[in-house]
Amino acid sequence: MALWGGRFAGDTSAMFKRVNDSLPFDQVMASEDIFGSIVWSRALAEAGVLTSEEQADIESALSVLKAQADAGEIDFDQSSEEDIHSFVEAWLTDKLGDLGRKLHTGRSRNDQVATDFRLWVKQQLLGLKSDVVAMIDALLQCASRNADVIIPGYTHLQRAQPVYFAHWCLAYVEMLKRDVSRIDDLTARMNQSPLGCGALAGTTFAVDRYKIADQLGFDSPCLNSLDAVSDRDFVLELLFVASTGMMHLSRLSEDLIFYNSGEAGFLVLGDDVTSGSSLMPQKKNPDALELMRGKCGRVFGHLQALLVTMKGLPLAYNKDMQEDKEGAIDAVSQYHICLRIGVEVMQSLALNADKCRLAAQQGYANATELADYLVEKGVPFRNAHDFAGQAVVMAIAEKSALEDLPIAHLQSIHPEINEDVYDWLQLEAVLEKRNQLGGTGHKQVTQALYLELEKLDKLKATS
Ligand code: ARG
Repeated sequence: MALWGGRFAGDTSAMFKRVNDSLPFDQVMASEDIFGSIVWSRALAEAGVLTSEEQADIESALSVLKAQADAGEIDFDQSSEEDIHSFVEAWLTDKLGDLGRKLHTGRSRNDQVATDFRLWVKQQLLGLKSDVVAMIDALLQCASRNADVIIPGYTHLQRAQPVYFAHWCLAYVEMLKRDVSRIDDLTARMNQSPLGCGALAGTTFAVDRYKIADQLGFDSPCLNSLDAVSDRDFVLELLFVASTGMMHLSRLSEDLIFYNSGEAGFLVLGDDVTSGSSLMPQKKNPDALELMRGKCGRVFGHLQALLVTMKGLPLAYNKDMQEDKEGAIDAVSQYHICLRIGVEVMQSLALNADKCRLAAQQGYANATELADYLVEKGVPFRNAHDFAGQAVVMAIAEKSALEDLPIAHLQSIHPEINEDVYDWLQLEAVLEKRNQLGGTGHKQVTQALYLELEKLDKLKATS
């Protein structure tokens, strides 16, 4: 039954119902709506609107419905109610008669939906946080399993300087730690209760909004009723959190897709996260990674869509805002799926250490070392850079690695070059030089891995 009976004589059109109804998607907040209603009934009892018996009857009836909602046992498809709010109220009225019709006293669906959705987002953030932490865990385990593997590091997708594979893993750990802190920041910022703000101007009943906030698990009440019912920053921020997290997963995917390619051959992905071709029997495609990369599009789109929806809205509530839900629900579920498959990918991948090493040795990734060597001999860096460049040209012409050029050839480029240059040009030596904080030197990487594993235990305890 429609919630606005008295003012209307005519029926709504079927098409209006279709465009207006939100139950098909806002049913995900069933638990939150029922919980919010229980807390509201307590506030009404304290304000003298309900007797304590009436409140107890409402609470025990709603608790039954909440248990069904938590267990996913409610069949919403059978209902023609407009939204989750009218669904719950109709169910209660069906159970308790006129008493059910008292619950909406002093409340509006505007403060109700803002409350429900905040509760829902908070819950999703908890789940996402533990998924991000699980992905950090998977990256650290993968780094530990492959602690000595050296890969080429790239800039402009040109082999630049060698790095430990663990260093690559730890780069993504840094990104994902920022994702965790963004989740924490958002959780703290949005932790305010809109309930008791009414339609837009506040409620006339003497409810204790601090107590309501506390019972709902929020830190405090929202301080302005107009803002409380029309603020959707928390949804936008959720979408930004998901977008940024997905962007990180997408970059990780892109790296791994390339490492897995026939051209690079650095690693092999497990059968469990790849698929074959219906035509070409030899193929093993990195579909999971391609989808982690591809799903970014729709998640970023949801963020843009809501920004545009919110941009021109006058205060306070407008029905446009109902459009905040489907995108957010989808973004959360896509981010969730990608984090989970990301864990499986990291667990399944097997590095080909020899191929990685060979690639790291090729491409003149030690040319910087030759320049640094000359700097050590007193040559100004700009000149040294030039000489090292000439050596690369010579090595290309001789189809040789820098470290395989005969000493006489190197000396023809600069007389200061001696036999000890070959020590400088060895792969491990190149890596060992980068032993300052944040660098890829073995000690640095081992230390960073150790510290991150230690931090992970703390993170796990809070997620
Ligand atoms: N389904 C609505 C939404 O998601 C609930 C609020 C309706 N409020 C109203 N004044 N019609 O935004």
